[in-house]
Amino acid sequence: MKKVFTLGMVFMVLALFSFAQAGDFQYIGVKKCKTCHNSKKSGAQFKIWMGTKHAKAYETLATAEAKEIAKKKGIEDPQKSDQCLKCHVTGYGQPKEKFAASFKMEEGVGCEACHGPGSKYKSMKVMKDIYAGKVKGAEYGLVMPDEKHCTTCHNEESPTYKKFDFKTFWAKIAHPVPEKK
Ligand code: HEC
Ligand code: HEC
Ligand code: HEC
Ligand code: HEC
Repeated sequence: MKKVFTLGMVFMVLALFSFAQAGDFQYIGVKKCKTCHNSKKSGAQFKIWMGTKHAKAYETLATAEAKEIAKKKGIEDPQKSDQCLKCHVTGYGQPKEKFAASFKMEEGVGCEACHGPGSKYKSMKVMKDIYAGKVKGAEYGLVMPDEKHCTTCHNEESPTYKKFDFKTFWAKIAHPVPEKK
């Protein structure tokens, strides 16, 4: 009983926190990030992401395996079910106003699923100032996620849960900015 209560509190605080942080930031979709994050010099984060399963997370819900899992739960189409989409696409369940016209759910678990909605931080000046530590990313909606953020999806609620180990999982999707010489 006590545990349930504490968890409830944590979620309430989290919900309030994300509401306060969310402001009017909108999800803009991965193509916008690609413009600046696809060259070798920048670290080609877009290319790296494309090679990860996150980029296929929506498509995965159309596979025979997904349909089989869904069927057992009485779900007809996993690509249309809250119970699956909540972890397989970016920003699921948030109000319509949070999504710019350029956003596509089909992009799966995109950059903004981890870094927050990009409408305000996507400009060159803001990005450079954040990176240089001149301004706080959070003020523009940028999130630098940690392990706790991963486990909002990588947890036992996933029907195919594989034990999550941050170090090994992160190594598979790491996308650093190359050091300047
Ligand atoms: C107009 C160009 C531009 C766009 C568009 C852009 N970025 Fe950036 N971003 C940069 C630059 C420049 C840096 C600084 C690092 C560097 O020099 O490569 C940066 C840095 C970052 C960082 C590191 C911040 C830090 O403090 O370490 C993250 C995370 C990031 N971008 C994510 C994104 C995401 C997600 C999108 C799309 C929603 C995006 N960016 C769109 C240019 C851009
Ligand atoms: C919004 C939900 C979500 C978040 C947040 C998230 N993931 Fe994922 N991740 C997924 C889904 C869904 C898949 C499976 C996609 C598929 O197979 O189509 C996945 C797959 C992966 C895989 C591939 C696993 C395999 O079976 O090979 C790795 C590695 C991974 N994630 C690492 C991370 C790390 C590290 C973080 C945090 C920095 C993270 N993920 C955050 C949803 C998420
Ligand atoms: C709590 C978040 C979450 C929910 C809800 C969720 N998934 Fe996933 N899904 C993941 C993650 C994370 C992965 C990567 C493998 C894992 O579970 O560690 C994944 C992977 C998959 C895979 C790829 C198989 C594999 O072994 O990697 C399929 C298929 C899948 N999910 C189907 C579904 C279906 C169908 C639903 C709805 C009934 C669903 N998922 C709901 C998080 C979730
Ligand atoms: C599954 C979660 C996840 C996704 C998806 C994701 N990132 Fe990241 N990203 C991270 C984490 C975790 C870090 C490291 C944060 C830290 O160092 O504190 C990071 C760091 C970065 C950095 C800074 C790297 C450095 O060396 O300073 C940039 C730039 C970046 N991401 C851009 C992107 C772009 C662009 C996309 C989409 C093409 C993307 N990320 C997708 C989790 C993610």
